[in-house]
Amino acid sequence: MGKDVIIACDFPSAEETLSFLAGFGEERPFIKIGMELFYAEGPRIVRDLKERGHGIFLDLKLHDIPNTVKKAMRVLSSLGADMCNLHAAGTKAMMAAALEGLTRPDGSRPLLIAVTQLTSTSEERMRDELLIASSMDEAVIKYAENAREAGLDGVVCSPLEAARVHSVCGFSFLTVTPGVRFAENDTADQARVTTPSEAKRMGSDYIVVGRPITAAANPVEAYHKCLKDFI
Ligand code: C5P
Repeated sequence: MGKDVIIACDFPSAEETLSFLAGFGEERPFIKIGMELFYAEGPRIVRDLKERGHGIFLDLKLHDIPNTVKKAMRVLSSLGADMCNLHAAGTKAMMAAALEGLTRPDGSRPLLIAVTQLTSTSEERMRDELLIASSMDEAVIKYAENAREAGLDGVVCSPLEAARVHSVCGFSFLTVTPGVRFAENDTADQARVTTPSEAKRMGSDYIVVGRPITAAANPVEAYHKCLKDFI
């Protein structure tokens, strides 16, 4: 797997997801299944979409004690996901246990990506509610370093942070970046956005794109524009 555009399938049901994907005909884009769809439809939605030939990023952001995460990751890995994630805040011990759980009997495993600080968390809330006194930038980089030391494959971050993460953690450490829009003024609820071509320039490895594709008048055309601009 190399650089790619991942479509965030933030739909409430399998029916809506399949009808959206039907528009792509024989094409099989890499897709992200998040909590809404997974909790609504269960593990079967992962198996079904995998069987249809999609690459799957299972965005369930696990965070629990190491043993629980290890066992949960074993289940997710068996569904055939290509990429899974967790919260780096769960510590290096939790991340290492997750990797163990993900590794299949044949030695293969999905990529494992860490969420550093959620983009909805402000520096002020981090300080006042989480009692983390460092800057957002320092916290993100420290969590990325922890993830790399635990053996993970990369982090979810803003494209604006991708270059810094690569300079500290190396270029083979992946940056998976949401917050992508075709135009700067079209932010919706994302605070900081970049276009696919800017994300490419900043060194993102995967862009995660939801509404600019799913809510477009012509989703297939919007997806192809993302591919053309990003890859
Ligand atoms: O519709 P939009 O392009 O904003 O969707 C972005 C996707 O990436 C959503 O599924 C959202 O949950 C996810 N995401 C994000 N920011 C993060 C982590 C995940 O936007 N820090």
